[in-house]
Amino acid sequence: MPTWNPQQYLKFAEERSRPCRDLATRVEVAAPQRIIDLGCGPGNSAEVLSARWPNAAITGLDSSAAMIDAARAASPQRDWRIGEISEWPAGSERFDVVFSNAALQWVSDHAVVFPQLLSRVAEGGALAVQVPGNYESAQHQLMRDVARRFHLQVREWHTHDQDFYYDALAPHASRLDLWATEYLHVLPNIEAIVEWYKGSGMRPYLDALAGEAERERFLAEYLEGLRQIYAPQPDGAVLFPFRRIFIVAYAAVA
Ligand SMILES: C[S@@+](CC[C@H](N)C(=O)[O-])C[C@H]1O[C@@H](n2cnc3c(N)ncnc32)[C@H](O)[C@@H]1O
Repeated sequence: MPTWNPQQYLKFAEERSRPCRDLATRVEVAAPQRIIDLGCGPGNSAEVLSARWPNAAITGLDSSAAMIDAARAASPQRDWRIGEISEWPAGSERFDVVFSNAALQWVSDHAVVFPQLLSRVAEGGALAVQVPGNYESAQHQLMRDVARRFHLQVREWHTHDQDFYYDALAPHASRLDLWATEYLHVLPNIEAIVEWYKGSGMRPYLDALAGEAERERFLAEYLEGLRQIYAPQPDGAVLFPFRRIFIVAYAAVA
């Protein structure tokens, strides 16, 4: 399990919350009473949910104590829980919206876990998920290339394309809404891409490296590789492409 740093993660809070807002907007559940945010991080996605459904009781669950501490400090009134997403479906609580933004890529066995998550949705409710859909993008291939040069073997992400999620969920859902969006995040420079990944996708690699000097060397090689991929705009800004997959599965009516 990678370590998480809420401050590093929130450096790009606006950009990271955008897909979360886009997902919440599309969930057609009029007045949910109970919502759970799986992999809630420092509480930014719960804020989006609260803005969308001000009257709902929102629970946030995350395996990182540092993330839960940051979330609790920001919004002490909410129900924050330290817990493992893959273990959560074994319970019996049901929620009107089971929501997860940018977290399920860290959980394996989606063919089993996604139907389990849907089974915890109350009648009339929905499972709503966003996961990155850019595993084959240039910036991720580069990360894996650099990792190979450092002889790192770390756990891969567990994402699939939309047709996989359709097949996993269609037998259990009353309706499915699936889409993908490629965002072009306007970042101030190429170094900002490194900062972005230091707070998310690069965590397992950085954790596996022995010591600060190795981490600096890894980051320098990654930055050098990025310079070969991205041509900055004349003002130095970089348009950072990030494809994401969205899934909304509505619970079957009994
Ligand atoms: C990229 S952050 C997403 C935070 C927030 N949901 C958002 O929309 O920005 C991913 C979060 O998932 C959590 N996470 C990763 N794997 C998890 C697991 N197996 N169980 C619970 N939480 C997990 C991490 O601790 C981290 O806080």
